[in-house]
Amino acid sequence: MQKLLIKGKRELSGKISISGSKNATLPILAASILAKEVRLKNIPLVKDIFTMIDLLNFIGLKTKIIKKSNIIEIKNNEKNINTLAPYKLVKTMRAGVLVLGSLLTKYGKAKVSLPGGCAIGTRPVDLHLFALKKLGAKIKIKNGYIFAEAKKGLKGTIINFPSISVGATENALLAACKAKGKTVLKNCAIEPEIKDLIFFLNKLGSIINFKGRTITIYENKLKSSNITHEVIFDRIELGTYMIACALLAKKNVIIDKIDPKIVKNEINVLKILGVKILKKKSSIIIKKKKKLKNINITTKPYPGFPTDLQAQLMVLLTQVEGVSKIKENIFENRFMHVPELKRMGAQIEIKDKTAIIKGPTKLTGAEVMATDLRASVCLVLAGLIAENRTIINRIYHLDRGYEFLERKLKNCKAEIKRI
Ligand code: EPZ
Repeated sequence: MQKLLIKGKRELSGKISISGSKNATLPILAASILAKEVRLKNIPLVKDIFTMIDLLNFIGLKTKIIKKSNIIEIKNNEKNINTLAPYKLVKTMRAGVLVLGSLLTKYGKAKVSLPGGCAIGTRPVDLHLFALKKLGAKIKIKNGYIFAEAKKGLKGTIINFPSISVGATENALLAACKAKGKTVLKNCAIEPEIKDLIFFLNKLGSIINFKGRTITIYENKLKSSNITHEVIFDRIELGTYMIACALLAKKNVIIDKIDPKIVKNEINVLKILGVKILKKKSSIIIKKKKKLKNINITTKPYPGFPTDLQAQLMVLLTQVEGVSKIKENIFENRFMHVPELKRMGAQIEIKDKTAIIKGPTKLTGAEVMATDLRASVCLVLAGLIAENRTIINRIYHLDRGYEFLERKLKNCKAEIKRI
């Protein structure tokens, strides 16, 4: 089992380039089932993406990653299609459930494993199934699988989500994009990754627009089959490195290949904390400030502060004067990183769904264990600022969503290596 060894307190300086978004690539890979040929650029070469590619191959699509590039070519020549997403592929990568919408749209049927829960929560898919049923799909759950059918195709309707869900909005889009008549989705998630999916589906010939949290999909006959698409940058990776620089960059660090407008809220939170950030057209320049101010944050659906940056922000708040609070409003069990941070010396108490962080506290290196993707990167941040050495176990969590993490940090003078 691989581990990461980090020697703390090394100042960061230099440049970091942000990779393509894992959470935009996953639904767009699922949408590729609807196309004839797709050329997808700027995909992050991380574990979850390879698992989704395995799933597309299992279904019968032909995929090829162009050597030494972040480009994948996908062909659906409609031969030997298997409308099945098996447990072995969906259990490790829950976004596999997104092929449900595409398979229903394209083939009128699908058998998809229930994704099951993970460390951060039970992760139900009831909202996904609620939307598909509204569009006319027949849904049955048996032996841990979702059996879905829409023999006469799917029919547009008005769907009002009882609560905001990224995955359910994506599955509804994939199912409604070729439905008969007009579909209106209300109370949708509007993350940038969803807008990128809409952009991709419109290239496929769909007619989709959005206003606030309402997405409208019009019936469309157009059938374009060969498309090229460049995936947007990963705003969560960006947020992670912004926090790393807020902790350790005494001189300016440039973070590029981004669009600062998309992370206005996250940049504002760091500015309120006192971090110095200069926005350029496709990069930001960032460095730490001596005194950072304590704050209270609640995680919310976009454009609120993202739950995927909650653990990372918590590390920053251990270094801030005074008491800060983070309320985790999205997932029921997303404080698994707290006991590990406390073993490194952090002073954090959990009350209901709120973490109360006292700072500044000196963190000391320790052997720790990652439990999920974002908790693992929070331990990397803690290791970077802790005294002496930190060893992080179970870093396969990290490899699911951070491309070339060690290389990017080493390029900024951090002392980090895989052992
Ligand atoms: C997406 O997960 C992201 N994953 C998550 O990122 C992210 O944390 C999450 O959105 C919230 O932003 C991908 O995009 C692949 P949700 P998703 O449906 O779609 C409840 C990462 O680290 N819910 O918006 O699963 C659910 O339990 C990952 O990259 C239902 O109750 O999130 C949660 O409490 C982690 N029923 C809340 O809604 C449903 O049918 C939000 O979940 C679906 C969700």
